[in-house]
Amino acid sequence: MSTSAYLFVKKKVKKRLKKYYRALRGDHFDNAGAVTALDYQVIQIAIDEVKPSSYIEIGTGKGVSATHVYNYLQEKFPACHFYTLEIFQEHYDNILLKYKNHPTFHALLGLSVTREETTNPAYDELEKYNGPVDTLRDLLKREFSEKKVDMVFIDSRKGSALAEFKLVEQYISKDGIVFCHDILNRGKGVEVLSYLQEHRERYYYDVLDTGPAGIIRIRFLNK
Ligand SMILES: C[S@@+](CC[C@H](N)C(=O)[O-])C[C@H]1O[C@@H](n2cnc3c(N)ncnc32)[C@H](O)[C@@H]1O
Repeated sequence: MSTSAYLFVKKKVKKRLKKYYRALRGDHFDNAGAVTALDYQVIQIAIDEVKPSSYIEIGTGKGVSATHVYNYLQEKFPACHFYTLEIFQEHYDNILLKYKNHPTFHALLGLSVTREETTNPAYDELEKYNGPVDTLRDLLKREFSEKKVDMVFIDSRKGSALAEFKLVEQYISKDGIVFCHDILNRGKGVEVLSYLQEHRERYYYDVLDTGPAGIIRIRFLNK
């Protein structure tokens, strides 16, 4: 599907992006950024386009986006394997219980990358963390060395999102799509957008005005 499918969420985005440039100078984070109906709409458009066999979500939280997206995948592409990663034990336990009878739903516990790969605020927050690490890297190495991953939704934390993106990029399929949540609220998407801008020859990306948080949609050129 062409990008015109997304025009309804591209309007006025330039004006709102001005705020993000200020955020590059410091760590502002003024909206925790719940996933909105428009976020789901753009993710569903991408799912219909990509027809994924695999979908990774980084940041399960209370399982709101996992539930929406997994239900949609079950309806449209029931063979798609859905993976969701979470560092917080309670969230992990809850989602594990909820989907324990679903063989295509995979909940994983732990920090996505290593603490050394993160930046602030994540780095400082992880000072006393001693749970599992490198969950994303382990998953990618184990499941996606050959067949590649089709879709990824980054909704973890400011300071770990860029490390996750760099990792995912090595395993994404040719026509795969990565979403990163929280850009217009100066959240985790800021570090990813800066990186995309520095290496613009490698990506095709859009910032979509899906609500207070907004979302970046990324495709990969020359794969
Ligand atoms: C914004 S919430 C996710 C919200 C969720 N997508 C939803 O719609 O309900 C972010 C979640 O990511 C988890 N998280 C943050 N950084 C992480 C990391 N580096 N690896 C794994 N989980 C992480 C947090 O514990 C938190 O539950």
